[in-house]
Amino acid sequence: MILILLGPPGSGKGTQAKRLVKQRGFTHLSTGDMLREAVKNETELGLKVKSIMDTGELVADDLIIGLITEKMQEVGGAAFMLDGFPRNLTQAEKLDEIFVAENLSVDRVIFLNVAEEELVKRLSGRFYCPKCNAGYNYPAHLPKVDGVCDTDGEKILRRPDDEEDVVRNRLKVYHRLTSPLENYYREKGLLAEISAGEHPDRVTESIMKVITATW
Ligand code: AP5
Repeated sequence: MILILLGPPGSGKGTQAKRLVKQRGFTHLSTGDMLREAVKNETELGLKVKSIMDTGELVADDLIIGLITEKMQEVGGAAFMLDGFPRNLTQAEKLDEIFVAENLSVDRVIFLNVAEEELVKRLSGRFYCPKCNAGYNYPAHLPKVDGVCDTDGEKILRRPDDEEDVVRNRLKVYHRLTSPLENYYREKGLLAEISAGEHPDRVTESIMKVITATW
C-alpha cells in the first residue's frame, strides 16, 4: 500500500506517520527529514538547501525528485508513506510518471485539515532534542525540566523554520503551491479528508478507518 500524507505545516504529518510506522509497519519517507539530515551532516545537498529551508520556501524540484526517487527504490515492494512529497503540481505529475513506469499506484491521499491558528500555535510550541530527536511541545507536551530533554539532558531546540515569520511564509507557500494538490487528488478520487485539529489519538483513529476501508 502506498499512502501520501498531505497537509499544511504543523498539521501532524510527521506525528501520525510515526504512529503508522508502529501500528502498521509502513516505511516513512519524509523529504523534510531527509533534507534536515543532509543539513545536519553538511553534505553537498545540505549545503545547497539550508538557506532555502530557513526561509520556508521550497527546495528545487529536481533535487527533491532525485532524492525521493532514490529512497523509493530502496524501499522495494514494502508499503510506504510519503510525507512532504509531492509539494506542488510539478512534483505530483512527476510522481505519476514514476509510478506508471514502475507499475505502482497511490492507494490513498490522507489530507490532514487543521485551522490556521492551531497550526501557528503548534509550530511555535514545537521543540526537539538535537541528540535523540525526541519531540516536545509547549504547553501540550513539556519536558520534565524546562528546556532540557528528558532522555539525555540535552538543551532542546526549535527548528529554524519554526520562527514565527518563517511559519507565516511556510503557510503562504502551502496555500500557493501545495494546496492545489488537494483538488488534484480529490478529482482522482484518492483524497480522504481528516479533521486533524483534534487530539492525536482521534486523528490516528480516523486515519486507521480510512486505511482499513482501503486495504
Ligand atoms: P517538512 O519537514 O516537510 O515540513 P512541513 O510540511 O512544514 O511539516 P512539519 O514538519 O512542520 O509539520 P507536520 O505536519 O509534520 O507536523 P508535526 O507532526 O511535526 O519541510 C520542511 C522544509 O523542507 C520545507 O519548508 C521545504 O523547504 C523543504 N521541503 C520538504 N519537502 C519538500 C518538497 N517535496 N519540495 C520542496 N521542498 C521541500 O506536528 C507539529 C507539532 O504539532 C508537533 O510539536 C506535534 O507534537 C504537534 N501536534 C501534532 N499533531 C497534533 C494534534 N493532533 N494536536 C496537538 N498537537 C499536535
